[in-house]
Parts: sequence; C-alpha cells; structure tokens
Amino acid sequence: MKKEMKVTPWEVSGKVDYEKLIREFGLEPMPKLPKVFEDNVLFRRKVVFAHRDFGRILDTIKNKKPFVMMTGLMPSGKFHLGHALLTKQMVFYQRLGAKLYIAVADLEAYNARQKSLKELKEVAIDQYLLNYIALGLEPKNCDFYFQSDRSKDSKKSNAYYRLASNFSRYATFNEFKAIYGEISPGKMDASLFQAADMFHPQLPEFEGKPVPVLVPVGPDQDPHLRIARDIGKRYKDHKFIQLSSTYHLFLPGLTGSGKMSSSDETSFISMDDGSKEVERKIKKYAFSGGQASVEEHRKKGGNPDVDVSYQYLRMFFEPDDKKLNQIREDYRSGKMLTGELKEILTEKINAFLKEHQKKREAAKDKIDLFFKDYIFKD
Ligand code: TRP
Repeated sequence: MKKEMKVTPWEVSGKVDYEKLIREFGLEPMPKLPKVFEDNVLFRRKVVFAHRDFGRILDTIKNKKPFVMMTGLMPSGKFHLGHALLTKQMVFYQRLGAKLYIAVADLEAYNARQKSLKELKEVAIDQYLLNYIALGLEPKNCDFYFQSDRSKDSKKSNAYYRLASNFSRYATFNEFKAIYGEISPGKMDASLFQAADMFHPQLPEFEGKPVPVLVPVGPDQDPHLRIARDIGKRYKDHKFIQLSSTYHLFLPGLTGSGKMSSSDETSFISMDDGSKEVERKIKKYAFSGGQASVEEHRKKGGNPDVDVSYQYLRMFFEPDDKKLNQIREDYRSGKMLTGELKEILTEKINAFLKEHQKKREAAKDKIDLFFKDYIFKD
C-alpha cells in the first residue's frame, strides 16, 4: 500500500513527488549553473533541484558582491546524514565567500518539544555545532546564534526581536491558515521568528544595508518562505531585498519513505553510529529495489531509483560519476545483487564516519570561537 505524500513543516511522509511539489508550491527548476556549482555533486546531480529567486544570488556571485546564506536548526535528537546534506551546502557557500547566519531555533523547539532551553542549547552545541565544524564550518564569517539569546550587543538584540514582533502586523490569521493548514499560537510565533531569522541580516544593525539572503531548505520549509516573502514585501519600516531560496531532495529514510528523521529510529544513520550499528541498520532497514529472489534478480535486474542504498551513494557517498554509473548499470542489469550494493554503501559510510568522528573530537577545541558574541558561559 502506497502512503499518500505529505510535505509540511511538521510532517514529511509517503513517496515524495518532487515534480508535483514544484507545481503546487510554484518553485522554479534549477537554471544552468556556473562551474563552481557543477563541480559540486549536490548541484551537478540535481539534489538541489529547485529555487525561488536564485538568479539574484548567481548575479551577486558573478559581480563579486556580498551575500548572506541563512539557515536554522531545530535542536532535537541526533544529528544524522540528512543534516549533513544541508551542512555540505553551508560549507560550500562559506567557501564561496558568503557570510553565514545560523539560527538555533530553540524558541521554536521550546514550544514544540518538551525540553528546557538549557537542554536545547546543549543539544545544539553537542550535536549540531560540533558536527558542523567537523564537516568544515569555520568561525570566520559565521554568526551562529540562539533565537532565545540573539546577541550581547543590545542594539542588535533589540533590532532582531523588534523585527519578529513587528512582522505580526503584516499577515492575517486567514493567510496563516491558508499557508499552514493547521495553526496554533506556538506555530504562528515560530513562523514569525523564522521570518525574522531570514530577513534580519539586512537590518542596519547587522549587515548595515540590504543584502541578498539565500536560504537553502528542504521543500517542507517552503510554507515558512512563502509567508516570510509576503510579510517582507509589505514591511513598512525597512526596504528588504526579497529572499532567495533553494530546495534539496530529502535524504530518504532508510525504509524508503518520507525523510531521514531523528524521531524515527528505523529511518536514520547518526554521526555517532559505530560500524556494527551501520552494518546492522543497512542490512535490516535499507529499502531495496531488488527482486525477491537471486534468480529473479539476475533475470529482471533491480530498480536503482527506489533503492535507498543507491540513493545514498548518489546523493552523498559516491562522488565519482563514472563509478556511480557503473553501479547503476550493474544493479539494473542484475549483475549486482542487493547484498553487494549494501556492502559497498556500508563500507563507504563507515569510512566516512570513522574520519568524521576523529574530526569531531578535534572540533571540540574550536567551539568557543563561535561564541564571541555571547554572554552566557556555563
Ligand atoms: N524551522 C526550521 C526547522 O524546522 C528551523 C529554522 C528556524 C530555520 N529559523 C530558520 C530554517 C531560518 C531556515 C531559516 O528546521
């Protein structure tokens, strides 16, 4: 039985039809990109598959002008491979010269999850920031902040909270209902904060002038972008440059539906997993596009497009196009069995995680460099 697709900020499930999302959300397919982008697997293989107003960012890069890349994280649960997919984009843009703004959405998490702000802060640092650093994030040109504790500079802090509050004047309850379907005071508040996250870099207290802001997201976040764009356009006190956003495919959960999610044990591989655990999870859960028996598989071949192991290789673990195509062909022709494909993936993931876990140990010394702007110190 196929589960119906659901893609909202609160739930992603079923088989995701990206063409349909592009149509329904009104996104643009990615344009032809310059070489620096094509050199990156995520762009070359259309893992980043759609956008809004991305042309502005491409022009800004071409003209060597400053821009901001903004993102936010929900500090809940374990950091997993799905998070790493976005982190790779963050590091890519930082190396390209973007200034990064990274919001810990601890206020959003506080009203949606049963945790204290202190616990949420710890998760943000131990799980997210550490893994970001291990994946290449640098403190230079990076403003990592907490929604609950924007800055020790009161001018900056006031400007951010003022914006989040002022924004409420520019949207009606019916718009919220139309965009989100189900809505509550907490969700509305989180939405306004997210709009402030995305626009506040352009305030005089932050970048000093309107600058293009790029927000790379999964398509589940698009409702936040739609309402933010409407609000930003109407805002009277400051003239903003409209937001740009890109949309990446969800890294599928191990069992093949929805997205990898830290709230579903059977869906994710976390950055903490040991090699035995990875092997066990791939063997047991990774959805296979193969046939029921070896005999049948040899005859009919497998389907790489629904095979989760193949998708992980394509989106993350096999950067070499030739090798990837060979795997695809061998699997499709029946020459390669599901077990063999899973073995290739398991080895790749374990090699990656072994390196990563070492880097993460080293990253602990760098954490303080991200908190120049903060009062708190526990
Ligand atoms: N809502 C986002 C999530 O669930 C977190 C977030 C908060 C965010 N502020 C943001 C994402 C600004 C992008 C930009 O993950």
